[in-house]
Amino acid sequence: MSDVTGEVFEYWETKYGTRDGVWSGRVNAALAEVAEGLEAGTALDLGSGEGGDALWLAERGWTVTGVDVSPTALARAEVAADRAGLTGRVTWVAADLDTWTSDEQFDLVTASFLHSPVALDRERILRAAAERVTQGGHLLVVAHAEPPPWTHDHEDDRRRTMEFPKPEDDLASLALPEEGWQVETCELRDRQAFAPDGSEVVLRDGLLLVRRVA
Ligand SMILES: C[S@@+](CC[C@H](N)C(=O)[O-])C[C@H]1O[C@@H](n2cnc3c(N)ncnc32)[C@H](O)[C@@H]1O
Repeated sequence: MSDVTGEVFEYWETKYGTRDGVWSGRVNAALAEVAEGLEAGTALDLGSGEGGDALWLAERGWTVTGVDVSPTALARAEVAADRAGLTGRVTWVAADLDTWTSDEQFDLVTASFLHSPVALDRERILRAAAERVTQGGHLLVVAHAEPPPWTHDHEDDRRRTMEFPKPEDDLASLALPEEGWQVETCELRDRQAFAPDGSEVVLRDGLLLVRRVA
């Protein structure tokens, strides 16, 4: 793990430091659905958090790199990997995606809910992510397409500045050359979830899946 500092680091370290298990630890359903149809290869998980998606992929034979700005989240993911006997199948990288670079390419690049109330150059990160996809490989972006209904009484004002792009917005900002890419899915999906107060809510996600063609 490399050293990271700065406002993004501070925000997410504080968030992960407030309690163990900020997320469920389970794979995101959209990623599971997509990856079940793919042959295992190499995968890059952008904003991998506590590792739910990366570990699910590793369990299914993928060799995974998980990148996140929070060393605390990654340390939890690493413990979970050890417990699951997946040490060595996932490389955890503590880095700010705004500045992280890599020459490696991956059969699957995935970003689940890569949102942040702290400045995040999402467009540039996703464009760089597309360049890291192998020929025949996929880029999957799963995002909150609308703010959760509890936003008004949750956390701080910074959350109001978060972006909630529709999948067609993500697709447009990727500016992929038509001859090099196929759009496999670009749609909104509703998902049952629980609000922080335990009540049932419906969240609207965006799912964008594109394939790099030869
Ligand atoms: C909403 S969480 C999603 C976590 C995980 N993908 C999931 O679905 O459970 C967003 C994640 O992105 C990470 N993140 C936000 N901004 C980042 C940045 N600039 N560089 C690297 N990671 C970042 C956060 O630390 C956090 O783990």
